[in-house]
Amino acid sequence: MTQPVAAFAGLGVSNPERILTNADFERMLDTSDSWIRERTGIRERHVAGPEQTTAMLARDASLAALAEAGMGPDDIDTIILATATPDRLLPSTACDLQALLGARNANAFDIGAACSGWIYGLVVGESMIAAGAAERLLVLGAEKLSAVVDYTDRSTAVLFGDGAGAVVLIRSDGARGILSSYLKSDGTLAELLWRPGGGTVHPPSEEMLKDHSYFIKMAGREVFKNAVRSMADAAARALERAGLVADEVDLLVPHQANIRIIEATAAHARIPMDRVYVNVDRYGNTSSASIPIALDEARRCGQLKPGMTVLLVTFGAGFTWGSLVLRW
Ligand code: ACO
Repeated sequence: MTQPVAAFAGLGVSNPERILTNADFERMLDTSDSWIRERTGIRERHVAGPEQTTAMLARDASLAALAEAGMGPDDIDTIILATATPDRLLPSTACDLQALLGARNANAFDIGAACSGWIYGLVVGESMIAAGAAERLLVLGAEKLSAVVDYTDRSTAVLFGDGAGAVVLIRSDGARGILSSYLKSDGTLAELLWRPGGGTVHPPSEEMLKDHSYFIKMAGREVFKNAVRSMADAAARALERAGLVADEVDLLVPHQANIRIIEATAAHARIPMDRVYVNVDRYGNTSSASIPIALDEARRCGQLKPGMTVLLVTFGAGFTWGSLVLRW
């Protein structure tokens, strides 16, 4: 069994108060509650207010994680913030968060790996601890997807929600923490899930407002197939690296995008659904924030307990995907 280098000292989340239900979408679009529930498993999602930024959601999650760790913002030496919805293109949202927290002793940077970003961030944080470059890190997934979702496009609008999750990552005592991980990407498939406009290739223009190319575009079926294939493969690879088999996994906490993707991934990984945590019904897809939000709920409802072996699996735009095995 591998010795963990990094472990969680605190976990916190932030979910906006406002909720958009499927009934709300029935009033806005040509869709139905039954279509959305059958195809995605989603019933409702939290949506930030106009004044609420990605960095603000991240701040609230960070303060909860720091409180649990018994630390203050000054104790943090590194802030890694994964997001697909940065508040600005420059500077990073991690730097905005640093300012909001008053974390004066930290370096701060963003990670761009879409829905997989929090897992990528944990692996980077773990590597920094192993290299002696950091000791006490905040690793976040924080998203305001409602700002980049096209609410006139029924094929994407119903899928996404806003939220943030944060952990304080520290050097492990050897008993608990990250046992193994696996990261992968395939940039040749970028156009299956992307925001074509708004960057340097197509800088903001009046045309962009008309053609909606600023918003998320997705080839749903292709994303679905790639997600299942890649998440199943990632699950197997992290388990192999940890020297474990599927029967030894107490809880699978997958990225919460769609109940059918989750069920297919669990079936491929040979993990029964009673050992899979699901909350996509109440949050929708919160991208990089989905796994920490699910972990926090799982421990609060008693499904996740100290000492458990937990498998995290993710997939997102890029495409990016990955997995991580934890001793909780
Ligand atoms: N309400 C009603 N009808 C809809 C809706 C909607 N909200 N959205 C699409 N439809 C219609 C389509 O227009 C189409 O109609 P048509 O046959 O008349 O053309 C029909 O439903 C079927 O459309 P498909 O896209 O083929 O439907 P599918 O069964 O593939 O389900 C879905 C669509 C739910 C998007 C599915 O492809 C999916 O879940 N893909 C994965 C996407 C995902 O989770 N992405 C998140 C980002 S990546 C990640 O996090 C893993």
